[in-house]
Amino acid sequence: MDLSLNDEQEQLLRMVKEFAQREVKPIAAALDREHRYPAELVARMAELGLLGIEVPVDYGGSGLDTLAYVLAMEEISAACASTGVIMSVNNSLVCDPLMKWGNEEQKQQWLVPLAAGDKLGCFMLSEPEAGSDAAAQKTVAVRDGDDYVISGTKNWITNGPQADTGILICMTEPSAGHRGISAFVIDMNGQGVRRGQKDDKLGIRASHSCQIFFDDARVPASQRLGEEGQGFKVAMSTLDCGRIGIAAQALGIARAAFEAAASYACERKTFGQRVIDHQAVAFMLADMDTEIDAARLLTWRAAAAKMAGRRHTRESAMCKLMASEVANKVAKNAIQIHGGNGYVSEYPVERHYRDAKITEIYEGTSEIQRIVIASYLLRG
Ligand code: CAA
Repeated sequence: MDLSLNDEQEQLLRMVKEFAQREVKPIAAALDREHRYPAELVARMAELGLLGIEVPVDYGGSGLDTLAYVLAMEEISAACASTGVIMSVNNSLVCDPLMKWGNEEQKQQWLVPLAAGDKLGCFMLSEPEAGSDAAAQKTVAVRDGDDYVISGTKNWITNGPQADTGILICMTEPSAGHRGISAFVIDMNGQGVRRGQKDDKLGIRASHSCQIFFDDARVPASQRLGEEGQGFKVAMSTLDCGRIGIAAQALGIARAAFEAAASYACERKTFGQRVIDHQAVAFMLADMDTEIDAARLLTWRAAAAKMAGRRHTRESAMCKLMASEVANKVAKNAIQIHGGNGYVSEYPVERHYRDAKITEIYEGTSEIQRIVIASYLLRG
């Protein structure tokens, strides 16, 4: 099996690495400290074609493949995990469903500006009482002539404070359970759409999230994505793509923590020798390196399944589960290797540790990923 990259992927990787190291990494700690949204980096990502990587050129994107997206996500997230998730939401959770479920008119109106980075997107599935249980939607869209009137509340919406466009999942037929859910594309500045206060978060503090309130928002039926009742499938298939992006984000965080730990262990001396010369530490680093590679291989496998046009629910759940748990373990051990220095913000590893945690939660907790994976075992 050949795991080498093609010329396009190599070229993109070189370009993103340079951008991430020169422009993103130097300001990542300050962005985190100040909880500041990196508008200038988002504008640069738009210029570099990183906000619609897999969208065909004809629709404003870069026309690259899923592995290219994964490579870019890892690089950006290794420099700044917050910037990584801003990019991943726009690519996987907004452009992807528009590509897959949007009609031509919707693609022209909504996808083109999102893929080009002229607009930013968010994905509105979670609610105060519908997180892991995504089908328990309380937000309702009631048909009224050529429109729907939407009311309800969405929670923890990444990019919510800045988004121009949103993908909304909500109930159109509450008595039908998950088959009564529909998807819409929403103008976030439209009448009846209101944003709440920014969430105060443990990590990824430069990426902002908030509640979104729908106060009888009137939305034309032409903004429905797919048929009535197809919304749960829209959401789940979108998350199949999104989980690959979050796995790549977790890989980036893990790699950054590992590189910081390895370099610290080569410099710092204890008991008359370098920290890395203590076998206990060298073994920890060897495990980190191996586990990051294992998670990367699972992530690339999921990307390959998506590129081949196969359903990749199981592969996506596995790579997201593995990469997020590896990121948490690696970041924790990176602090341990740094000792007291790891616990203070002068060194980057405490940020990586805080940033890693969310990858085990959003786009499906580790427990949800295990449910998805186990469901394939139950099918026999
Ligand atoms: N693709 C297509 N269809 C799918 C699917 C998939 N991946 N997964 C399920 N479906 C279909 C099923 O085939 C079934 O269809 P039929 O009715 O035709 O049989 C239907 O959906 C219902 O499937 P289940 O019975 O498996 O559904 P469930 O209610 O038991 O839920 C779940 C399954 C996996 C637990 C799901 O609720 C889930 O993934 N929960 C986690 C939600 C989540 O990830 N939220 C993240 C929010 S977004 C976010 O975090 C963004 C951010 O901030 C960055």
